[in-house]
Amino acid sequence: AKAKVSMSRFEPSNYVNYEKLNENVNIVRKRLNRPLTLSEKIVYGHLDDPVGQDIARGRTYLRLRPDRVAMQDATAQMAMLQFISSGLPQVAVPSTIHCDHLIEAQIGGAKDLARAKDINAEVYNFLASAGAKYGVGFWKPGSGIIHQIILENYAYPGVLLIGTDSHTPNGGGLGSICIGVGGADAVDVMAGIPWELKCPNVIGVKLTGKLSGWTSPKDVILKVAGILTVKGGTGAIVEYHGPGVDSISCTGQREDLVTSALYCTLHGGMATICNMGAEIGATTSVFPYNHRMKTYLEKTGRGDIAALADDYADLLVPDAGCEYDSMVEINLDELKPHINGPFTPDLAHPMADIGATAVKNGWPLEVKVGLIGSCTNSSYEDMGRSASVAKQALDKGLKCKAAFTITPGSEQIRATIERDGYSKILGDVGGMVLANACGPCIGQWDRRDVKKGEKNTIVTSYNRNFTARNDANPATHAFVASPEIVTALAIAGTLDFNPEVDYLTAANGEKFKLKPPSADELPKLDFDPGQDTYQHPPAEGGSKLRVDVSPTSTRLQLLEPFDKWAGGDLEDLQILIKKCILAAGPWLKFRGHLDNISNNMLIGAVNIENDGVNKIKNQLTGEYGGVPDVARHYKANGLSWVVVGDDNYGEGSSREHAALEPRHLGGRCIIVKSFARIHETNLKKQGMLPLTFQNPADYDKIRPDDKISIKGLATFTPGKPLSTVVKHSDGTKDEFQLNHTFNETQIEWFQAGSALNRMKELQ
Ligand code: F3S
Repeated sequence: AKAKVSMSRFEPSNYVNYEKLNENVNIVRKRLNRPLTLSEKIVYGHLDDPVGQDIARGRTYLRLRPDRVAMQDATAQMAMLQFISSGLPQVAVPSTIHCDHLIEAQIGGAKDLARAKDINAEVYNFLASAGAKYGVGFWKPGSGIIHQIILENYAYPGVLLIGTDSHTPNGGGLGSICIGVGGADAVDVMAGIPWELKCPNVIGVKLTGKLSGWTSPKDVILKVAGILTVKGGTGAIVEYHGPGVDSISCTGQREDLVTSALYCTLHGGMATICNMGAEIGATTSVFPYNHRMKTYLEKTGRGDIAALADDYADLLVPDAGCEYDSMVEINLDELKPHINGPFTPDLAHPMADIGATAVKNGWPLEVKVGLIGSCTNSSYEDMGRSASVAKQALDKGLKCKAAFTITPGSEQIRATIERDGYSKILGDVGGMVLANACGPCIGQWDRRDVKKGEKNTIVTSYNRNFTARNDANPATHAFVASPEIVTALAIAGTLDFNPEVDYLTAANGEKFKLKPPSADELPKLDFDPGQDTYQHPPAEGGSKLRVDVSPTSTRLQLLEPFDKWAGGDLEDLQILIKKCILAAGPWLKFRGHLDNISNNMLIGAVNIENDGVNKIKNQLTGEYGGVPDVARHYKANGLSWVVVGDDNYGEGSSREHAALEPRHLGGRCIIVKSFARIHETNLKKQGMLPLTFQNPADYDKIRPDDKISIKGLATFTPGKPLSTVVKHSDGTKDEFQLNHTFNETQIEWFQAGSALNRMKELQ
């Protein structure tokens, strides 16, 4: 037997279980009788039932047992509130909360952090106390950005982690399968329920050649985004591999683990690439285990995991001869620095072309602000390469022409770059170090240098650049590039500066070129951990602890269990609105208060009756009002309601709020032509009835003032349609069949009033 190795230093009695992973992979490989890709190995290795599970890429739904859960502070609020209402005493798998999204950038790290602690005190207290009570590790505000902390402490080759944030795939840089999910999925896993994922397709990205000069790992993903576009990765895991991949498993020799990924240094490299895989819609991205990962694990105090991974090296790379659903090939020798944008991350331009393209399109050339860091690009090496560029400018008496900000990904990075002098250089060239938090990346940016509506250009080393993402100004043209390119552009102050060929003018008038940056991949000394920002749940358990939620809070509200099914059919439901597109609002502030955030329900939906947005007829009063207001009025009058929609209802509304809100405001049923699956499942979890027209033409029979009854609930069975009676206001009726996709367990959820109610019943 091999030595037992802890998953992290914070959880000494939870072990890395490669033995089980290996066992499951062998079962599945034998069943499928073919070689497996790396992501298949890790995903199928975590199946709840490797013997019986139906596995077909792109088709079946897998029931999985993730190893751990991570939540950021905006999404953790509702996830923890739901977990609390399950009545379970402790989380079933190691889980953590990370305070990073609620810190607004204004005047610099320390002050911004202090202000955030004050403004968000009740949310932080709630998360800290709920974490302590239910066994969840709590990373305080100032600790850093969720994905960087996962990389430093929790990701390792072969782990399956889910996180309530879209850039969770960052951990793929350390050979992990890390998938971004909604809070409802996190609650399931924390409660010990298997987690469902549509069996992913696998896109192979083959890297050949070697990065050099100004080209960085970021340019790999900027290029991939340009090729695959923002939708290209949907439903797929992107698997990077190098030219030697076919020989890896055949010989199993250590040298064969050296793929060209080696030249994408960790974690500024592979993690950046995986992080931004979210921008092409990929389920996640992953790199095979290699010696760079080993060094990084050792440097972050996890040499024992690296040693164990070495023993299981064959398990942590793809099988020889495995097949991908599609393949992209990139020759790193030929890859040039890129900049993507504006307004979408897949609009890729080589640096050499951006000036002319910008002029042609009327994009402002002047760079107003350069922003480096974020979860995407704040490794030690990223900071070092930026500092290397900044130092050259300083030596020639130059400072940044643009404003310049630096967001360290974690307290450890902040403390280490401060110790090693990078912060001083970046500060001297004109930079402002912001708090270790998401800040401008998530729009937490009190930007003062331009007015809203003023056309301007910014460049960031972040991942997303959709309209208004960073500063809420739809006229801001945001471009994404590597941190060293962003630094060079901030110094030059103009978008058409290509450091590969263009010259700068020194303070003494001399012309000079910036040399390609160079920096250490990892610090020579150990990382400086900085301030202790972690709160471990008490060893003795949390049964005696209390969770802090004030009954008068506007931001937090404990959840009341939803009512159970009353036993009969649902009679005479009022139609709330017909035909709508769901649109989720930002509402970051009210994530933990269901009643308040419910004022957001369907306010972006278009009412078929009058083509109005957030304007529907209250059938009790005859007056027009906002959707949430009318729903509240119906609820207050004991009138349950139904929403009628058309195709792909709920697309883009994977958040559990989109399902909690209608249930909270008295909705019972959503009848549509088709659902986006995540939303359909979330509705079921909340005790709602998501139903589809057996004959899509029946959609046209429904009028906005109809009353709808749902029949057949007493014999509600998987696969058996329900029926409906639609009463029109002129006294006529229509009757037709409605399909559903409930399985037995989900029917129990409906009967209990919600999945959480059911969990409580089962205790
Ligand atoms: Fe935060 Fe931006 Fe990353 S919001 S988690 S820094 S993508």
